[in-house]
Amino acid sequence: MAETNSLVINHLNKKFDVDKKQVEILKDINLTIKKGEFITIVGHSGCGKSTLLKIIAGLVGYSEGEIIRNGKPVTGPDTDCGMVFQEHRLLPWLKIKDNIGFGLDKSDKRKWNEAVRKYIELVKLQGFENAYPSQLSGGMSQRAAIARGLVTNPDILLLDEPFGALDALTRVQMQKEILRIWEEQQTTMIMVTHDIDEAIYLGNRIVIMSARPGEIKEIITVDSANAKVRGSADFSYYKQKVYKHFFEDKSETIEYTI
Ligand SMILES: Nc1ncnc2c1ncn2[C@@H]1O[C@H](COP(=O)(O)OP(=O)(O)OP(=O)(O)O)[C@@H](O)[C@H]1O
Ligand SMILES: [Mg+2]
Repeated sequence: MAETNSLVINHLNKKFDVDKKQVEILKDINLTIKKGEFITIVGHSGCGKSTLLKIIAGLVGYSEGEIIRNGKPVTGPDTDCGMVFQEHRLLPWLKIKDNIGFGLDKSDKRKWNEAVRKYIELVKLQGFENAYPSQLSGGMSQRAAIARGLVTNPDILLLDEPFGALDALTRVQMQKEILRIWEEQQTTMIMVTHDIDEAIYLGNRIVIMSARPGEIKEIITVDSANAKVRGSADFSYYKQKVYKHFFEDKSETIEYTI
């Protein structure tokens, strides 16, 4: 039977050595993500969100537990899992097309060109193939980073606050773009964000993490189509549901009225 889960995490713990002492960063993380799901993760700064993504990507090891990516235990980075970082991390000396195609096999030039062209079109950067990163805006650079993450056709794309450095208008535009790309490519997406609106707008499920050591406090399923309409009553309902985890004093929660 075909694997229906992109990711299965069981009892994952992560400790880092700091000053010769073991510091607990992630505690008993359990999470199963189905193929094609869009998962958003929110939590306080330092609770281990980036560490969790790096563990899923195979870039960082873990202390205890089990993590199965596309049916196989994670042993290291692989082309079946792409990653987009908060800063675009494009190489300044390479043209956009070479940045996007950096991780692709160059032995078959025709195949390379085809793949790069496809993803340049997907992120709407036609005309900028030969530009250098310094010649692009922040939003365009993030589009290029998303194309680079997708060019190997991964089953899973991990996004670590990819729109954190963008202005509010570009950010909303990029959120629409990533939804379009997700619908077109049907890639499983796991995105860390500090923006609660973004988490609701994009996520099929929202994973709420506690402060360090990061534990999963709640997984909220966004199961109303109206929740995707910003400013709707359903959107506000989910917003309150997320906010209550971060503001114990109810007077600090923001009332959203339409
Ligand atoms: N290589 C490392 N060695 C030791 N400690 C580390 C290492 N990497 C991260 N940490 C620590 O692990 C904790 C979690 O870091 P992480 O970057 O995962 O947090 P985060 O939730 O992504 O935070 P932010 O929202 O600010 O990006 C922090 O306390 C950090 O100092
Ligand atoms: Mg982080």
